Amino acid sequence: MFPRETIQAGPVTLRPPVEADIPAVVRACSDPLTQRFITTLPSPYTAEHAHIWLTEVAEARWGAGGAEFVVADPGTGELNGMLGLHLPDRFGNVEVGYWVAPWARDKGVATAALRALATWAFEHGVPRLHLVAEMENVGSQKVALAAGFRHEGLRRGAGPLPGGGRADMAMFGRLPGDSGEPIRPFLPFLPPGGLTDGVVTLTMLTGDDAPAYQAVASLPDVVKYRVPPEAPPFEETLYRCAGAGYRWLVGVQAEMAIRDAVTGAFAGDIQLSHLTPPMREAMVGYSLHSDFRGRGLVTRAVELLAEWAFTQTSMRRLISGTNPGNLASQAVLERAGFTRGQTVKEYLPGPDGTWTDNVEWLRLR
Ligand SMILES: CC(C)(COP(=O)(O)OP(=O)(O)OC[C@H]1O[C@@H](n2cnc3c(N)ncnc32)[C@H](O)[C@@H]1OP(=O)(O)O)[C@@H](O)C(=O)NCCC(=O)NCCS
Repeated sequence: MFPRETIQAGPVTLRPPVEADIPAVVRACSDPLTQRFITTLPSPYTAEHAHIWLTEVAEARWGAGGAEFVVADPGTGELNGMLGLHLPDRFGNVEVGYWVAPWARDKGVATAALRALATWAFEHGVPRLHLVAEMENVGSQKVALAAGFRHEGLRRGAGPLPGGGRADMAMFGRLPGDSGEPIRPFLPFLPPGGLTDGVVTLTMLTGDDAPAYQAVASLPDVVKYRVPPEAPPFEETLYRCAGAGYRWLVGVQAEMAIRDAVTGAFAGDIQLSHLTPPMREAMVGYSLHSDFRGRGLVTRAVELLAEWAFTQTSMRRLISGTNPGNLASQAVLERAGFTRGQTVKEYLPGPDGTWTDNVEWLRLR
């Protein structure tokens, strides 16, 4: 059983909840983002729900070996969030859950509170802490890494979605022996507004890009050079676009929209895949809608991306590959400063079960 005590941790104080917290709990739990990602909250959330949570749920949790803390402002004691330890599972593993009130977000509150709670939990003998955040909850995933929790994978269909259905949940874990230092992603996010040269702008893909991405990915001459050479089902495209932030953060793939810098229209996509941190290498791939071709937009996109990768990240090798027959793509890479390498035999899946050679390309930092 954990002691019901107050933890002073610099910019945050963790304390057991009290009756006076109820109005703030109602306001915070009525917030759309809280409702979106804490899918077990009643909606609408009323003072009665907060009262039951305080007098029954939180009490039961403390009584049964869990913990429920208010994250409070150290000066005023006002509620800024909530942070709890669920009951240990049969192997003693403990799950952490939290939310921060809308008025206290983006100030490091969740990160500071989670770090403090992890230290305290390990001091009280917890052998392992983990948290699960929905694939689309990139803010929470950033908190996990910043608090020294390591990404451990994606649990498919592991959580409920509001309104029905199931969501994939990203798993993060921390052990007592871990340093607890913030875990820095291999690739930082793009600056606000993306990368631009005034003609094209690159922005991280989001779920809103899915219809336009699908239109590009379904063009016959794009399908021909896709791996595998098939148009994706729309469900797959939606999943790809909506999960781009997660995959970027955890170092799987960095996927961007190529936009017309003036109108913001989606012109195509460009991505860094096969991220290989020890070699500081990534593979560039792209496709452009036929309506936007012939204006040098992809070359600009590759140049922008290479410039960012070589100045703002630790990347030192950008590689690419083209079908030997894809002369347009080869011209893009040449203009963007890539050097043609060897041709690898039967590397790419072609149509009808055939295999196609691949021309390798390299640009060094
Ligand atoms: C997730 C949540 C707890 C974060 O609280 P917070 O106090 O704002 O977190 P922090 O300030 O410590 O860190 C959040 C980081 O995520 C970033 N962030 C927030 N939303 C983001 C988004 N949609 N995409 C990318 N980054 C985002 C912030 O800019 C900040 O990054 P920075 O430190 O590089 O500036 C809060 O947004 C929240 O309560 N959300 C709703 C409930 C919830 O999701 N709970 C967690 C369930 S697993």
